[in-house]
This record gives sequence, C-alpha cells and structure tokens, in this order.
Amino acid sequence: MIYRIRFGAMIETDAVMRPEMAAKLLQGLDGKKGGLFDCIQIRKEEAIYCRLDRKDAVYGLGEQVRGINKRGWIYNSDNSDNPHHHEDTTSLYGSHNFLVIAGEKNYGIFLDYAGKVAFDVGYTEQDMLLIRPEDWNFDLYLFEGDSVKEIVRDFRRMTGRCYIPPKWAFGYGQSRWSYYSADEVRQIVKKHRENNLPLDAVYLDIDYMDNYKDFTVNGEAFPEFAEFVREMKRQHIHLVPIIDAGIKKEDGYSVYEEGKEKGYFCKKEDGSEFVAAVWPGHAVFPDFFHEEAREWFGNQYDYLLKQGIDGFWNDMNEPAIFYSEERLLQVFEKLESFKGKNLGMDDYFGMLDLVNGLSNNREDYESFYHDYRGRKIRHDKVHNLFGAFMTRAASEAFERLQPEKRILMFSRSSATGAHRYGGIWQGDNKSWWSHLRLNIRMCPSLNMCGFLYTGADLGGFGSNTTEDLMLRWMEFGIFTPLMRNHSAAGTRCQEIYQFKNLDAFRNILQFRYRLLPYLYSEFMKAALADEMYFQPLAFEYPEDDMASQVEDQLLVGESLMIAPVCEQNARGRYVYLPEEMKMYRLKQNGELESGILSAGHQYVAAELEELIFFLRKGHALPLAAGGNCVEEVDFDHLTVLTFGDGEISYRYYRDDGESRDYDNPDHISVLHVKGDCEMTAE
Ligand code: GLC
Repeated sequence: MIYRIRFGAMIETDAVMRPEMAAKLLQGLDGKKGGLFDCIQIRKEEAIYCRLDRKDAVYGLGEQVRGINKRGWIYNSDNSDNPHHHEDTTSLYGSHNFLVIAGEKNYGIFLDYAGKVAFDVGYTEQDMLLIRPEDWNFDLYLFEGDSVKEIVRDFRRMTGRCYIPPKWAFGYGQSRWSYYSADEVRQIVKKHRENNLPLDAVYLDIDYMDNYKDFTVNGEAFPEFAEFVREMKRQHIHLVPIIDAGIKKEDGYSVYEEGKEKGYFCKKEDGSEFVAAVWPGHAVFPDFFHEEAREWFGNQYDYLLKQGIDGFWNDMNEPAIFYSEERLLQVFEKLESFKGKNLGMDDYFGMLDLVNGLSNNREDYESFYHDYRGRKIRHDKVHNLFGAFMTRAASEAFERLQPEKRILMFSRSSATGAHRYGGIWQGDNKSWWSHLRLNIRMCPSLNMCGFLYTGADLGGFGSNTTEDLMLRWMEFGIFTPLMRNHSAAGTRCQEIYQFKNLDAFRNILQFRYRLLPYLYSEFMKAALADEMYFQPLAFEYPEDDMASQVEDQLLVGESLMIAPVCEQNARGRYVYLPEEMKMYRLKQNGELESGILSAGHQYVAAELEELIFFLRKGHALPLAAGGNCVEEVDFDHLTVLTFGDGEISYRYYRDDGESRDYDNPDHISVLHVKGDCEMTAE
C-alpha cells in the first residue's frame, strides 16, 4: 500500500512516473492508527518523526557516506561537489530521498521534493529518525509492505524503469584526467592489447576539448577526430568524452553565441546573464529546466554522435562553481582589509574561510534563476535537480537523434528520477581503503533508488593509489556494472599495466569477461523487473539477525554473494554465510577451486591475488570463455557452475545489447542443468 500526503504547493520534480500507484491520498496523519502510522508523527513546519526500535535498520538515501544501515548520522539532500569527502561529510553529488525502515514493521518513505532536506537518522536522538525539509512544499509518500524488497519494488515501479546502457558498457574502461592526445590514447589501447588486458572504452577528460569548450575537439591534439573514433572502433574501443555543465563565455564560440541569443542560459534577478567560473574561467549555465533550452542543449551532443561517439559522461553538474565574479570581488576587498594587520585567531581563520568558501557557495546558488514551466524559480529551490535535468537533456536527445540505439550516459550529479536517463559514477573518491568500503556500501543504497548502472573510480580518483589497493579494488570492481579505472591529474598513474604484478591484474580482469553472461543477464533482469542487482544480505535473509549487521558483503544477482577483502595487508577475512554456500577461489593460474562452506562465520583465506566469491544453493552461474572486449565474448557457449542436487534452472537474459526492445520475450531462455556442465544456450 502506498499513501501520499501533499504539503503546500510543490515544485514538480518529475520523479514519480505512476502517481496512481499511491492508492490513498491522505490529508494528514491525524487520527490514523495501526501499522506504520503508529511509528510516524508529523509536526508541520518542523519535522517528520519516526520512532526507531533498537533493532530497526534504516536503508536507502542512495549516494551518501557511511554504512548500508544509515543509522547514526545526519545526511543532507543538498547536491555538492566534494572531492574530499569522508565520514564527516553530510552530502554528496546526488539527492535520493527514499529510505526504508526495516524491523518489526517495514515501511518506506519518499519525499518528492527538489529542495534541501536533512535526514537525522538517530544522530540527535538515537531512537528517532527526523526528516526536516527546508520548506513544506512537497509530496510525502509512505510505503507499507511485508518485506523491504516489496517496498523497494513498489518505489522503483512508481518512479519508472532505470536506464539501460549498451552491452559494451559492461566492459572495462580506462580513464585519466587526462589523456592529452590521440597518440596517448593509442598508447593506452596498445598497452592493454599487447598485455592481453581486456578493454572496451577509453575516457576523454576535459583536455580533449578546445579550451574546455563543450562540443568542441582540440584539433591539434586530436586531429581528424571522426577518423580517430573509427580507428578506435576497429580495435573495439569506444571513446567516451566528458561534457561539463558550464559553457565557456566566449564571443565567437557558437554554442555560447546561440544559447545567449536564444536566452537559454540561467539569469540573475535583473535578467542579465549569470556568470561564474569553472574550468574555462567565466562560464554560463544552460537552463535545463526550460524545455526549449533543454532540447537545444541535448541537440549539441549530435556534434559528437555524428563523429561516431556513442557514450558520454556528464560532469560538474551540481553545478560546481569555482567562484562568481561578484563573490571574488568581495573576497578581494575583504582580503585587502587584512593587509598589514596583526591577524589574531578570528581574522586568520576568517581569512581562510573566505577563500575556501568561494566555491559552491550557497549565496551564488541563491543569485540565479530558472524558467521552469512558465515560472521564474530561484536556483536553490531546485538545486538538487540541476544535474538530473542535464542528464535528461542528453537522454531525451539520444532518443530523438538515435532512437534505435542505446547510448552510454552517466552523470556525476543526480536526483531521483534521473535514474531513468542515465547511470551515475560515485564522484571524486580517494585512493583510500575506506573509500573501497564506501563503494561497496553505496552500491545497494543506489540500487534501491533506481541507479543500477553505477560504479566508483576504481583505484581511487584523488591521492596516490597503491598496487594492493588497486588489486583489491579490482576484485570488487569486476562485479560493478560500470567498471572504470579513473584518476586525477597529478596522482600516480594507475593503468593496471603500470604495476608489477601484471599477471594478477590480468587474471582478475579476464575473469570479469568470463562473468559477463551472468552479470549482464542479472543486470537486465533486475532493471526490467524494478529489482536490485546488488542487495544487502538483510534484504534476502530478513529473519537472520546476523545478516542485517553485515556491511561488507553483498548479493550480486540471484546466485552470487561476494565478500571483498578491503583491509590493507589482510590475507583473508571473516565471512558470514546466512546459509550453506559453495565458495570459489580464482587461483593465480586462472583456475577455479571450490569447496562447500557451512552457514555461520567462517575465516576465509584470500591472498592479494586471489578472488573469492560464493554460489548460493540451488543456483547456477553461467560463465563465458572470456575475450579481450565485450564483442569477443561468446554469450551462447557457456560453462555453467552449480551448487545443489538435482536439476537447477537459470533464467538467462541475452540480447544484442544495442537495440531497445528490452521486453522481447525471446531474450529469455531457461537453462536447465544438473551439475556443472558445458552448454549452448538455445
Ligand atoms: C571532476 C570529475 C572528475 C574529472 C575532473 C576533470 O572532478 O569528477 O572525474 O576527472 O572533474 O574533468
């Protein structure tokens, strides 16, 4: 059962696709008793209160720091560019206002709201979840269900099917800020190919552009771009350029000139252009909320599509702002006043804050406007939707421009609803072991909110990675739908051939390509049925008290459980098995060794080079022979691994990975197997 309660007059977010699923429209909670109504109290203009029992777990909120169980911290929906995030951080790049309280009673909450919200999950009072929106103009949805899974499915159904990428986008991608020329990219590809390291994509960061101008290519570094794209395609490599939200303000630059002439950029209160600095210096920001502007911006992608590009990543779309001209002047003036002064504590720290507070400043977000469905709306009121609407611009354009084909699209900033238009990567992380753990924990939370095509920068973006971290991260990364190694300028190069133990990296990466029939099939089934690809153990074993406390193991699809090693120098780890499972160890020579482990806590040895994973009883795992790119992988001839007696059946999803007829029943075949076997899928 889904209930909807309307407060005030909300600004449409377009997050909900099927409002009719909310069978009951309530005026408020007054007088309501029983079920979830015994746990929730609403004090208008103040907060929504949910009482938490000691055993209740709180799941969801998508892209946030800390655990799978979110209890014990404050999380804000306030999209923020934060390349230095850690445990203390309260908001990241996306806003996903959906959570589920699991315990004696299971219920879900979704705040359909574009503004800032604080979710105080037992921080102020351990046994209380407090939800505080900035103003009371929103729709509140309450979900009642027998299980967490059912509530998540209802939420997903209500908000619409998630984005589905092309099959090649399940291959491995190599990225770096930046590869500065076509020759450098050729080298990257050559090194992978000559070392037998599978590869499907190379990412082009901001330096492929002419002076950071979107929809241009630096002709000197990347001459005859279209021909270069074809040359790469002949080697089965897709080039994936970045697109930034800010448009360089430069006379003569056609995108700027045209957008300006048509009035498509965000404006200040007096109607003049809002200008702020990003990579190219002064930039303007397309008004993605304005339908015509959104269509116009989307059409710009055609410049690259026409040159054979079939994948993009949208960035800096919170939007990230280095500084606005007005703020910079104020800061300079203030700094000037410090000159020659004897700076005490307050002045000194105040001075530092002034400079540090230049970027992504709230006052800047309050100083420009959107034209949204005929209303002038101040940016901060819809801030959390800005990146989502940029991704929407791209996705709607792809459907117009290339209706037959899937285009890869993922974004940094997002909000609920954007899951229909693209995937997301998990932003600027660091080469820290804690961020490997964060990557693992964030995946199921994002899946709950509809973001299935996701992954983090493997090896870590900022800071210098280490060989062991890179390898352990790859051991988890081979299970994430988006599998990309990306690192920041100035950090240690982390293409995997840079490391000594190349055989180990090769072994792990090649195994990803063996897993592809399973990973792709599970992704597609989950996407089409509004289910999760990565699940916390608690969702599948709700009666198991221990399972709900596991924060570093996940179920991947219906057959597998993974337990990544994420401690430096560990040569194994404790694993919790909610039931008897078959454990596999990928040995350094590429062979799989298996053994049955009984339910309970088990210590499992796993040397740095060894991948471990678990097959659930009564389930099957279809494997391919592998390949150096997705196109080389034979999805028809399979080795099927099984655990259990008697016949085991597996619903296998296969398609061309390119067209959009996802629901064609011919894509499903049922594999019937008895014991491990080789087989050809019908
Ligand atoms: C942002 C992105 C990062 C990219 C960099 C340069 O920090 O999050 O992935 O490499 O900008 O474009």
